[in-house]
Amino acid sequence: MRILATLSVLLLAAACRSSGAGTGSGVAAKPAMPTEVTPARVALGDSLFNNGGCMRCHGAKGVGAQNGPALNDNAWDQLATGSYEEIRALIVSGVPKEKIKVTTRPNAMGARGGRMNLNDEQISAVAAYVWTLSHK
Ligand code: HEC
Repeated sequence: MRILATLSVLLLAAACRSSGAGTGSGVAAKPAMPTEVTPARVALGDSLFNNGGCMRCHGAKGVGAQNGPALNDNAWDQLATGSYEEIRALIVSGVPKEKIKVTTRPNAMGARGGRMNLNDEQISAVAAYVWTLSHK
């Protein structure tokens, strides 16, 4: 009888140890990184955003400023979900004055970065960078 009890304890311990390997599987998976968000684009987008015209209204690293909303807080005025596609489309169109939601922001956001006049690849790069700001 005692031998049987010892044996079942040993078996139980072994079972626990082998199932312990899977403990990490309960961690929620991060939302998948869009394939468009590549390290090269994020680096180019960072320099365009922070050396160019975006930072003027949105603050360095998109923390927000008087003339533009924060882009790093997942609270959107114009976008519904903050997806890469939405961000990219908004940079292409800009935000005309009459569509600004918070009217204490007096200046329209120019299409394609306004004076920056971004080409398609530069827009993809800035969109990739902006996407990372709210997906840390
Ligand atoms: C002249 C100021 C100005 C500049 C320059 C500017 N923006 Fe904006 N941006 C705005 C305003 C104003 C809004 C809309 C805010 C509102 O509706 O209240 C906006 C909205 C956005 C949004 C949507 C944010 C949200 O809360 O839904 C994104 C993304 C964005 N801008 C990215 C950029 C990028 C990238 C650049 C550079 C290529 C840029 N902006 C340049 C003023 C600016």
